[in-house]
Amino acid sequence: MRLTYIGHSTFVLETSSHRIVFDPFFEQNPTSRTKVKDLLCDYILVSHGHSDHCSDAVKLALRTGATIVANFEICEYFAKQGAKTHAMNPGGAHDFPFGRVKLVPAIHTSSFDGEPGAPYAGIACGVLVTADGNTIYHAGDTALFTDMKLIGAAKLDLALLPIGDNFTMGPDDALTALSFLKPKLAVPMHYNTWPVINQDAADFAQRAKRKGYRVNPLKPGESLELPAKKPRATAKKRATKRRA
Ligand code: NI
Ligand code: MN
Repeated sequence: MRLTYIGHSTFVLETSSHRIVFDPFFEQNPTSRTKVKDLLCDYILVSHGHSDHCSDAVKLALRTGATIVANFEICEYFAKQGAKTHAMNPGGAHDFPFGRVKLVPAIHTSSFDGEPGAPYAGIACGVLVTADGNTIYHAGDTALFTDMKLIGAAKLDLALLPIGDNFTMGPDDALTALSFLKPKLAVPMHYNTWPVINQDAADFAQRAKRKGYRVNPLKPGESLELPAKKPRATAKKRATKRRA
């Protein structure tokens, strides 16, 4: 499977069967060279309501027919704008055709900022995705919290972690997060989009390496490949097995 960094917290994950976008922020994203019109996708995963995480969710969903997966309040709001949605909440997991999605806690706020009269956007979440045998954690925007140890118990192949500071954890706390999550590989996000969140990702990667963690900063537009492992049985396959 291939993961492409669009910039900020936006990623495109291509599994063996589907294309999934994390936190769609394209048109107003100063670091993105990709526009909504350049993309096809099947699912859109949204961590929280802030515009730098979902300002293009509806536009992308309506153009591609993709389903938005997010907390209940975000899904309600986007469904009213015509998007296909699948609502969840932290602690809940669901089997989709491409794999399993679990929403997990994040410590952050969530609102549809900049939209007068918009409703409350529920609570901020992180997203765990297991597809093609790989488990990926997109932390969304979050502070460091000790329950990351529980998220790490899912045996993470890849963690996407904010390091920008100011709005989320900065590099020091992200290093501690690595010790809680113990991912095989981490990619930093949510930095260098605006001056207030400027960070040196290469320095963060070096500091992580000294502690025994692999961090691979990606430039916007760059991809990494994760070898497909034994795909887990989806609910549908399990149901078929049960009937057989
Ligand atoms: Ni945010
Ligand atoms: Mn943000």
